[in-house]
This record gives sequence, structure tokens and C-alpha cells, in this order.
Amino acid sequence: MRERIAAGNWKMNTELDGAVGLAKAVAEGSAGALAKSATRSEAKVVLFPPFPFLWPVVEALRGTAVETGGQNCHAEKSGAFTGEVSGPAIRSTGARWILAGHSERRQLFGESDDTVAAKVLSAYAADLRPVLCVGETLEEREGGWTMSVIARQLNKVLNRLRPDQLETLVVAYEPVWAIGTGKNATPAQANEVHAAIRDIVAGRFDRGAAERLPVLYGGSVKPDNAEALMAQSEIDGALVGGASLKADDFLKIVRAVAR
Ligand code: PGA
Repeated sequence: MRERIAAGNWKMNTELDGAVGLAKAVAEGSAGALAKSATRSEAKVVLFPPFPFLWPVVEALRGTAVETGGQNCHAEKSGAFTGEVSGPAIRSTGARWILAGHSERRQLFGESDDTVAAKVLSAYAADLRPVLCVGETLEEREGGWTMSVIARQLNKVLNRLRPDQLETLVVAYEPVWAIGTGKNATPAQANEVHAAIRDIVAGRFDRGAAERLPVLYGGSVKPDNAEALMAQSEIDGALVGGASLKADDFLKIVRAVAR
């Protein structure tokens, strides 16, 4: 049984009090769902707040099963990089996860596949667990390039990973055209790409490792489409943006993931 993961990417939203309140509400509400799923699978809930709130959110979640991560990190572990945050700095707050290669980082901040791969490696070096985001744009999908784009993004990272590192990798498939647009991929469309992701991993490593890799879907996951997406055989969880900012909505998605 693969791990199931509900992740909330708060992006550049919330302020201190709201962030702490949201984290507490998620922890309280997900306790039941996580406990219930314990017999069925290893479900996890991970929150990705903005950097200034990492430490207060880690503190607020102490003693709960909800985990925390950074939305990005610099590839170097320290140095003269004004405004950047390193993996070891993030890990020192008690956070355990990192998002790497989110499409907003790739598109708005010019992160290349190589930069993303370097960030994934720096995450491992800092004892952070990376969620590697991949996904095609609308133009790429319409041009029939979805699978080649995913393979390129994935292989840049896989080529540099050791087999033991693959065991803690999480991949999130996030079609760019579905992020924040209200247009989610259909469950069948997502399932097809998730299966292709596993085939790429099997080709580079082995089938067993590919079958253990959790692959999350992201892009306009909402309470009303989460059940259908999470029921797909290749979908192991959700990376949620907008709907993770309201505890009630996110908790419905947590329950769909942890079912
Ligand atoms: P969304 O964002 O749920 O608001 O579409 C998902 C993401 O960017 O991770």
C-alpha cells in the first residue's frame, strides 16, 4: 500500500495569526481522518506555509500528526544570496518537507529543470523530503507533448538520484492549465499521466520502486472533485492550493485522500 498524502500549499497567502489558526484547525479536524485511515494506509497531512510562518506553524502543530514544509529552497546550503532561504535553515525550524519545481517557480521565477534538480538534491542533503512538481502547459497539452514534457522534467531529477533517495521522493503532477483556474484534469486524464510517471520511474530504476512512489495530483482540487480524483488507482493524494486556505474545504479533501 502506497502512502497517501494531502498537502496544502498556502502560496503567498495568510498572515501570522491566520496561519497559526488555520494550522490548528487542520490538525484538529484531520486527527479523526488520519486515525481512521491508519488501518488502510499511511496517510499524511503536510502544510506549506509562507516562510515567516514556518516556525510558528511547526510550534502550533507540535504533538499533532500534521507535518510542515517550505514552498521552495535555494540549492546552496548557505551564503551571500540575499532574500533566499536554504534547506538547512528550513530544516532547523522543524519542518521536514520541501516543494521543488512548482510551476509558479518554473514560470514566474525562471527555474529550469537543472535548478529544480539541484534543489531536490539540496533538500536530501538537508534531510528534507522533496515533493517534485511536474506538469505541462495548455499549449504543450494541445500540441500533444504532455508525456515528453513530464519525462524531461522528471528525468532531470531521476538521473541524479540514488535508489535510496527515490524511496522518499514524492511527485506531484500539476497540469499548469489546471492550477488556480477552476479547471481540473479529469480523473481519467490525471490517472493516465500518473501511470506514465510510474513507467518513467520504472524504466530508470525498477518497477518495485515505481510502485512505491507516491504521486499526488494538483490543480483545482476542491471538495467536490476530490473523491473522484482520489478514487483513481494511480492517484495517491492531492497538492491543494486555493482550497487549502479554508480549513473546512481542506479537511474534506483530507478525508477523501485518507479514505
Ligand atoms: P490550486 O493550486 O489548487 O489553487 O489550483 C494547486 C497548486 O498550485 O499546488
